[in-house]
Amino acid sequence: MVMSSSSDDIISSSSTSSKEIKDRRMFVGIVWNCAAELKLVLTALLFLCSFATVLQFLPSRSFFLSPSDLRHCLSTSTSTSLSNNTLSTPNYSSSSPLTTTQLLLHTDQNQTLLNSNGVLKRAFNPYGSAAYNFVFMSAYRGGPDTFAVVGLSSKPLHLYGNPTYQCLWLPHDHDPIGVTAGLKILPDWGYGRVYTVVVVNCTFPTSAGADGKGGQLLIHATTNGGGDRNINTTDTILALDETPEDFARFKEQFTSQPKYDYLYCGSSLYGNLSPQRVREWLAYHVRLFGGRSHFVIHDAGGVHDGLMNVLRPWMEKGFVTVQDIRDQERFDGYYHNQFLIVNDCLHRYRFAAKWLFFFDVDEFIFVPKKSNINSILDSLSSFTQFTFEQMPMSNKLCLSQDAPTAFRKWGFEKLVYKDVKRGIRKDRKYAVQPRSVFATGVHMSQNIVGKTTHNTDGRIKYFHYHGTIAERREPCRQFINSTEITVDTIPYVMDTTMRDIAGAVKRFELKMIGSALQRTRQ
Ligand SMILES: *[C@@H]1O[C@H](CO)[C@@H](O)[C@H](O)[C@H]1NC(C)=O
Ligand SMILES: *[C@@H]1O[C@H](CO)[C@@H](O)[C@H](O)[C@H]1NC(C)=O
Ligand SMILES: *[C@@H]1O[C@H](CO)[C@@H](O)[C@H](O)[C@H]1NC(C)=O
Ligand SMILES: *[C@@H]1O[C@H](CO)[C@@H](O)[C@H](O)[C@H]1NC(C)=O
Ligand SMILES: *[C@@H]1O[C@H](CO)[C@@H](O)[C@H](O)[C@H]1NC(C)=O
Ligand SMILES: *[C@@H]1O[C@H](CO)[C@@H](O)[C@H](O)[C@H]1NC(C)=O
Repeated sequence: MVMSSSSDDIISSSSTSSKEIKDRRMFVGIVWNCAAELKLVLTALLFLCSFATVLQFLPSRSFFLSPSDLRHCLSTSTSTSLSNNTLSTPNYSSSSPLTTTQLLLHTDQNQTLLNSNGVLKRAFNPYGSAAYNFVFMSAYRGGPDTFAVVGLSSKPLHLYGNPTYQCLWLPHDHDPIGVTAGLKILPDWGYGRVYTVVVVNCTFPTSAGADGKGGQLLIHATTNGGGDRNINTTDTILALDETPEDFARFKEQFTSQPKYDYLYCGSSLYGNLSPQRVREWLAYHVRLFGGRSHFVIHDAGGVHDGLMNVLRPWMEKGFVTVQDIRDQERFDGYYHNQFLIVNDCLHRYRFAAKWLFFFDVDEFIFVPKKSNINSILDSLSSFTQFTFEQMPMSNKLCLSQDAPTAFRKWGFEKLVYKDVKRGIRKDRKYAVQPRSVFATGVHMSQNIVGKTTHNTDGRIKYFHYHGTIAERREPCRQFINSTEITVDTIPYVMDTTMRDIAGAVKRFELKMIGSALQRTRQ
C-alpha cells in the first residue's frame, strides 16, 4: 500500500485536466450535434424538394395532399427544427450585447448595486453543490446505548468548517425519544481526497432500544455554515431501522463468545489481480488461521471472473465472504475508499471475532515454527492492539535452480530474496480485539480503549511481495545463483522461510477443496 502525501497536488492537477477534457468534449459535442442536425435537415430538404417538384407534374386529385399543402408542411417543419437549434445554442454573433436585465433573468439575483456612498456592491451567486454533506454507508449497534454510523463527508467541510452530528433514537412504541450529540471520528485524517471518512459514535445517556421493542436511529448532519456561512444546512438520515428480531440477533452476539477467532478485513480490491497469487494467499492463510477464521473480501472492481473462481471453493466452505463495494467509486476518497471499508468491516464484525486483522493480499503473516497463531495471540491477549513488522521481499529475483520449473512454483515459494536495506521506515500491519475499538485506520487504530504494543518481533511478522498481486505474468525475471546480491542499490539476502512451507500449504489446499484450482492461471 502506498501512502501518498501529496494528495492536495493530485486533487488540483486532476481537476484541471478533467475540466479541460470536459470543455473539449463539450465543444466537440456541440459541433457534432449541429453537424448531425444540419446534415439531417439538408438531406430532408433535398428529398422533400425533389419530391415536391415531382408532385407538381402529377394529377393532384389522386393525392390526399396537394403540392401546396406539402410545401407548407415542408416550410414549417424546417423552421421548427432551426428554431430549436437556436434555442439550445446562444447566438454569439448577436450585435446587441447581453444586457444586465438578461443576466438577471439567468441568475435572478442582483449583480451590482450602487450603495448610498457611491460604492459598487458586488454579488456572489452560488450554483449547485460540489460534495455531499454526508454519504451514508452503514450503521451498527454497539451496545444497549451505543451505535456507530459509517460514511463519507466533504473533506474541506471538515478541514475548514465544523460540521456536527446529532443522534436521535425514536422508539417504535411511545417511550420518550433519546437525543445525544454524535461524536465524530475522522479515521483517515490527512489521506482523504474530495471525501473524508467519518465514523459517528452515538452514545446515549440512557439505553436506546435495549427493551428490544425496536426503533429508529436518526442522524442530523449539520454543516454549521461550512460551505456557505449564511446557510446552516441539516440533513436527516435514517441510519438504522431496528426490528425486535434485529435486536435479538444483536443481543445473542453481544452476550456470547465470538463465532470466529480470527477475521480478516480486506481493503478494497481493485485492478486486474492475479488469480494464482490470490489462490496461494487464501490457502496459506486458511491453513494459518485455522477452522475458526473468516475472510471478508471487498470487491472494488478487482474480483473478475478468474478471481471469483479461486474464491468460490472457499466461499462454499464458509471461509470467505465477498462484498461488492464497486459503487464507492462514485465518491473520490483515498484509494478506493479503503478507510471507509475497513471501518464498516470493524463495526460489522465487531462481535463476531476475537481478533480482526487488517492487511493486504500481497502480504503473508508468519509465526515461527515452534509456535502457532493461537499461542502467539494468547500471549498478546492483554493488548487491544498489536502491530507487527514487515519483511519486504523482491518481486522479481528467483533462484537459478528454479529457472526451468519456475512457472509451476508458487509465488512465495520462488521469490526468496529478502530486501535488507537498513534505515528505511517500513510499514507495519496490525490486529485488534474489536470490542475495544471504535474506529480504525489502515496501519493502526487510534480510537481504542486498552493498550497497544509494537513489541512483537520474533513472535509474528509478515512477508510482503509488493507488486506481485496486480501483475498477470510470471514474477521471476532474474535468476540468481548466490545467497546475497545487490540489485539497483538494494541489498538482498536469500530467505527460504516461506519457500519451506509451500509443500504443506499445497497439500492443505488439496485436502480442503480438492484439485479444483490446480489449473489456475497467473
Ligand atoms: C422544438 O420546439 C418546439 C416548440 O418550438 C417543441 O414543440 C418541440 O418539442 C421541440 N423539439 C425538440 C426536439 O426539442
Ligand atoms: C443572430 O443575431 C443576429 C444579430 O442580431 C441576427 O441577425 C441573426 O438572425 C441571429 N441568428 C439567429 C440564428 O437567430
Ligand atoms: C436586490 O436589490 C434590492 C435593492 O437593493 C434588494 O431589495 C433585494 O433584496 C436584492 N435581491 C437579492 C436577491 O439580493
Ligand atoms: C462509542 O464510544 C464509546 C466511548 O467513547 C464506547 O464506549 C462505545 O463502545 C462506542 N460505540 C461504538 C458503537 O463504537
Ligand atoms: C445550525 O443549526 C443547528 C441545529 O439547528 C444548531 O444547533 C447550530 O447552532 C446552528 N449553527 C449555526 C452556526 O448557526
Ligand atoms: C552457480 O554457481 C556454481 C558455483 O559458484 C557454478 O558452478 C554454477 O555453474 C552456477 N550456476 C549457474 C546457473 O550460474
